[in-house]
Amino acid sequence: MSDLHNLVLIGFMGCGKTSLGKWISHNASMSFYDTDEYIVSKQNREIVEIFATDGESYFRDLETETLKEMNEKFRYSVISVGGGLPLREENRELLKNIGIVIYLRTTQDTLVKRLGNDTKRPLLVGSDIRSKIQELMIQRESIYENTAQIIVDTDDRTFGQIYKEIEDAILAR
Ligand code: S3P
Repeated sequence: MSDLHNLVLIGFMGCGKTSLGKWISHNASMSFYDTDEYIVSKQNREIVEIFATDGESYFRDLETETLKEMNEKFRYSVISVGGGLPLREENRELLKNIGIVIYLRTTQDTLVKRLGNDTKRPLLVGSDIRSKIQELMIQRESIYENTAQIIVDTDDRTFGQIYKEIEDAILAR
């Protein structure tokens, strides 16, 4: 990739942001950061615990703080962000400053298959997975689409194919 911007991956839980981010970082020799991992290591506790003890809005504040730090520090990196992070307008502005924002679009059927047995995501624990995904997707889909400069469909595609499409879209800008 000749462009020296950060790449920012957004999308629903389970769309593959973290796995693809690690793949790109390895194959394009870029650094990789993930907002959830960053928060967990700074807080020294898991996300389910943060939600249970301090609530969702506290976690959302941590996400905003994290983005501000990343905006100052990170260059030529792939950054994957938690699925709910783009919901705050302030975060959307920060994301656009940090780098090229890419939405990894994934169908609900695929998400249901991937997230069926999840225990690490507090918003999904104890709910009917299909209806919860549907409910959150209604709130989020247009936000993801409007925040991203590049949208890539990920179902049934390899990381190599997805990355090629991202590269081509960046070169065509
Ligand atoms: C969330 C997504 C999670 C994590 C938290 C909340 C969300 O990240 O930030 O559980 O609101 O969609 P992933 O998208 O990496 O699963």
